[in-house]
Order: sequence, then structure tokens, then C-alpha cells
Amino acid sequence: MEKKQIAIVGAGVSGLLACKYLLSKGFHPIVFEARSDIGGAWIKTVETTMLQTPKQLYQFSDYPWPDSVTTDFPDHNQVLDYIQSYASHFDLRKHIKFNRKVVGIEFEGLSGEDGKSWSFWNGNGQPFGSRGKWTVAVEDAKNHSTEVHQVDFVILCVGRFSDVPNIPEFPPKKGPEAFHGKVIHSMDYSDMDYEAAANLVKGKRVTVVGLQKSALDIAMECTTANGLENPCTVLYRTEHWNIPDYFPWGFPLAYLYLNRFAELLVHKPGEGFLLSLLATMLSPLRWAISKFVEADIKKKHRLAKFGMVPKHSFLQELSSCLTITVPEKFYDKVEEGSIILKKSQDFSFCEDGIVVDGQTTPLKADLVILATGFKGDVKLKNIFLSQTFQDYLAGSPTEKLPLYREIIHPQIPQLAIIGFSESISNLYTSEMRCRWLAELLDGAVKLPSIKEMEEDMRKWDEYMKRYSGKYYRRSCIGALHIWYNDQLCKDMGWNPKRKKGWFAELFEPYGPVDYAPPSTSN
Ligand SMILES: Cc1cc2nc3c(=O)[nH]c(=O)nc-3n(C[C@H](O)[C@H](O)[C@H](O)COP(=O)(O)OP(=O)(O)OC[C@H]3O[C@@H](n4cnc5c(N)ncnc54)[C@H](O)[C@@H]3O)c2cc1C
Ligand SMILES: NC(=O)c1ccc[n+]([C@@H]2O[C@H](COP(=O)([O-])OP(=O)(O)OC[C@H]3O[C@@H](n4cnc5c(N)ncnc54)[C@H](OP(=O)(O)O)[C@@H]3O)[C@@H](O)[C@H]2O)c1
Repeated sequence: MEKKQIAIVGAGVSGLLACKYLLSKGFHPIVFEARSDIGGAWIKTVETTMLQTPKQLYQFSDYPWPDSVTTDFPDHNQVLDYIQSYASHFDLRKHIKFNRKVVGIEFEGLSGEDGKSWSFWNGNGQPFGSRGKWTVAVEDAKNHSTEVHQVDFVILCVGRFSDVPNIPEFPPKKGPEAFHGKVIHSMDYSDMDYEAAANLVKGKRVTVVGLQKSALDIAMECTTANGLENPCTVLYRTEHWNIPDYFPWGFPLAYLYLNRFAELLVHKPGEGFLLSLLATMLSPLRWAISKFVEADIKKKHRLAKFGMVPKHSFLQELSSCLTITVPEKFYDKVEEGSIILKKSQDFSFCEDGIVVDGQTTPLKADLVILATGFKGDVKLKNIFLSQTFQDYLAGSPTEKLPLYREIIHPQIPQLAIIGFSESISNLYTSEMRCRWLAELLDGAVKLPSIKEMEEDMRKWDEYMKRYSGKYYRRSCIGALHIWYNDQLCKDMGWNPKRKKGWFAELFEPYGPVDYAPPSTSN
């Protein structure tokens, strides 16, 4: 039978994985990449960026890190080399069209409204229908021309943390336009070459907004450039359990949170009565483990001294995929005064700098860097030309992005999304999803009815709200990655239990190599 034409948008790790697993099923995908190289988020970033997930977790299941990389946390050049050598090893480059930005996709043959009357995805529960195709409009940056491609299936791997910055909203005349200094987003800073970035902050009073990874890394670079002469202000609204390392009190965090036992302590979407009862009975242990980790972070970072103790639990941090590693010596810089931490729920601009909650004197600044994250959902939505599909994808603002298995939207036919929902290691998660998707496209995975898919999505939404609090829109499966992978495995007809013996099954942490194809597993 003739294989269908499939377009993959993006050649970061998700796009490469999608390409690799589709090739393994005999498809010949065409990958469109807006940039001139592969690697996505890792192509250009802040100079001091390192992998913050231990490399054993951020690893292709069948392609180990080279022996030459001895550290657990490789720098961004090493990560990029690893990703690029994966692409070369599996000969993926020839399938990629570089400098091709997909500017819009449109489904021809069916109206988006048809999805409302379906009982099964795509009308028939199959990945390919006979009634429609996607038209993919692609801008060729070199020739300044637009090509149009017709394909049977589209896989969006456009990345979540780039291109569309999250810029806070301000009342009229109180935004960046009121400020006499310069305002940029962390994305602009990381796009600059290293010397230009260092020169930009040198000798300036810099305020960095945010308290997550981009903010902390940039603040460290500012303080390296300016020291005590021009302290860097970090303006934040929520304290976080940003971790010093992966060994609270010397005990591996993975044994506390990344094994099956840890998942028994939380309520899981779709769990039965016994698992639910067990999670309830074990909730004091869940609480104690969270406190154990929190006490270690508090002590190592001296959080109480700096007024930085979060109000939420460590479990919530992990369940929201917000556990980031703090740059070394960050709190030493706070102690010496070259980094000033300032809390405010809101802020606005004036001529001289930033006005924070309840203060009349502004924080004087020459440069404000908004490390306020990205709008990955808006980026995805904007790729659809049809308003109906845009609305489907956006879903409700009070629910997580409506994706079944975090991959397909029940009302959007012949299309999958890889790389939106997060985990402890986004590479690992993307690989599992691409394998599931390849099986779906090959006919081995059968989807339930839309009603059943929606019920499953509702349960995951409930789980995320329960454990991630206000961060549920991050769609994080990090604290339940084994339970989540179990579902993918069952769909694919694999044994979800990947360890040898019940003890290992219960207590050994799970990671990508547990799911390695049989020929490459140890
Ligand atoms: C600085 C930084 C550090 C990170 N560190 C970690 C970490 O330590 N651990 C971890 O698990 N995760 C980390 N992440 C998250 C990271 O996003 C993922 O690990 C992973 O690299 C995402 O891969 P992706 O392919 O899904 O997306 P990306 O890597 O963002 O790739 C998307 C690709 O799609 C292309 N593209 C986008 N739109 C279009 C279009 N319209 N047409 C054509 N091409 C398009 C882009 O050019 C890009 O190449 C980090 C992210 C950043 C930004
Ligand atoms: N490996 C690495 O070294 C590395 C480096 C950079 C980035 N990354 C990854 O890239 C992803 C993006 O990271 P990121 O730090 O750019 O973004 P992020 O994780 O989304 O964090 C955004 C920060 O901005 C704050 N914020 C958002 N809107 C705000 C507003 N209106 N006013 C004030 N503060 C606001 C948030 O505060 P609240 O918490 O209060 O919402 C949060 O502190 C993450 O997955 C991260 O781990 C990794």
C-alpha cells in the first residue's frame, strides 16, 4: 500500500524523533525547519546554559551520550553536538528542508465544524481519512518565495520556549513606552552573541523580571559583568523550590520521585479504588517526603534568611515541571549584595525604571530584561489558518491544552503535536510520544471514541489542577511519567513493566533507557 505523505514542522529534538520513528515504519516524512540547522532551543542560548536535567534522563533511548561527555550536566554546546550526532547517526538530515518556515496550515476537504459531530477522531478513528488533506504553506527564507505542499498528516514540533514571548500587560502609559531605558525579553538576550550580551549589561543598572531558569542565568551573567558596582535586581512574584542539586540530604531525588513507589503516593488519573485508597493512606508519607526535600533546599540556599521560602510544596513544584537548578553561587551573590531580590505581584514602568507594588520610589534601571517565559500555546494556535481549529486548540482558559495522550486533539484530524506538555526531561517524553505516534500512524494503536478520549483528558486536567495548582496550564506529566508511559505502552501493546524483578520495578527510578528498543537495551 502506498505510504501517506507526512509533514513534520520543526527540527528540534521532537521533530528529529518524529522523523526517526516515522522512517522506521516506512514513511518518508518531509521536515520543515525555519532555521538553517537542527537542534531548536539548543542552537543558540545564553552562554552559561547547561543541561539542567541529568544527562541519563536527557538521552535518546537507543543512542547514549558519548564517553567524552563525562559530566552529568553537559553545557549547551555538548547538548547540541549530541543532538546533531543523533541526526547524523540515523541519517535524518536529508529529510529536512532548512530555512523553511511554515506560515500556515489549512485542512482541505472537511470544514473544522465537521469535528463537532464526530464520534471518532477524524470521523473514523483512523489517522488517515479519504476526505481531506492538509495544505502547508512554507516560506523559503533564501528565495523569499512561498511553496505550498499537500500532505496527509501534519506533526507540529514547533517548540514551546521560543518565538512568542510572554510579555506582561500594563495599564496605558505604564508600559515600556514610559521608560527611558531599554526593555528586552530574555529571548532577545539569548539571541545575541555572547560578547554583545556582555557589553549590553556591562556598567548598567539591570533589572531582571522572573525567578525561573532564564531569569537566574541572566542575573548571574549580569552580576559577573557588574559585581557590586551595579547590583542586578531580580524582580519576582512567586518564590520557587529551585534546587541546588539532585541529592537532598545526600539521598538521590530520583528515588524519591521518579520510581513507581513515588507514584503510588499520588492520585492518578483513571486509577481504580485500590490505588486511590493507597494514595490517600500514603498521603502523610507524600507530605513527609516533600518536607524532607524542602528542608534540604531551605538549608542549602538559606531561603529563610532571604525571605525566599515558597508557600507551595516541593511536590507542586515538581508536578508543574518548575524544578530548575539554581546557578552555582547564586545565593552567595544575593548575600554579598550583587544580586538584589525584590518581590512584587505587579509592576509598571516610569521614566527612571520600575514601580513596584506599594512603593512610591521607583527601582532605578537602565535595562530591564523580561525573563517572563513564552506563550507556546499561542505559537501553536497561530499556525492554523482556520479560526475553528485555532479555537479547538486553545480550548478553555480554565483547562489545560486539550490533547489526548498530550499528542492529538480529538477534533483536529490528521494532526499531532509533540513537545508541548512538559516533563522532567522533555527529550525522553518526546521520544515516547513519537514512538506512540509512529504506531498510531502504522495502524497498531487504536484510538477509543472521542467521548472516551475527552473523559481521559478531563481526568488528566483534574490531576494537573490538583497537583500543579496555578501552573496546570504547563501540562506537566513529570511527577507521573511512569503512569503516563504505562498508558502509551498499553496502547502500543508493550509490557509497561520494564524492570527485572518486583523490587526494581517498585523502587528503581525509570528513565529513557528502560524503553530502549530490544536490540539496544542492556
Ligand atoms: C535554554 C533552554 C534550556 C533548556 N534546558 C532543558 C533541560 O535541561 N531539560 C529539559 O528537559 N528541557 C530543557 N529545555 C526545554 C527544551 O525546550 C526541550 O528540552 C527540547 O529541546 C524541546 O525540543 P522541541 O523540538 O520540542 O522544541 P525546540 O527545540 O524549540 O525546536 C522547535 C523547532 O521548530 C522550529 N520551528 C518553530 N516554528 C516553526 C515553523 N513555523 N516552521 C518551521 N520550523 C519551525 C524552530 O526553529 C525549532 O528549530 C530547555 C529549553 C531552553 C529554551
Ligand atoms: N537548561 C537550562 O539551563 C535552561 C535555561 C533557560 C530556560 N530553560 C527552560 O526553558 C523553559 C522556559 O524558562 P523561562 O525561565 O524562560 O520561563 P518560565 O519557566 O516560564 O518562567 C517565567 C518566569 O517569569 C515569571 N513571570 C511570568 N509572567 C510574569 C509577569 N506578568 N510578571 C512577573 N513575573 C512573571 C514567572 O513567575 P511565576 O512563577 O510567578 O509565574 C516565572 O518566574 C523552562 O522549561 C526552563 O527550564 C532551561
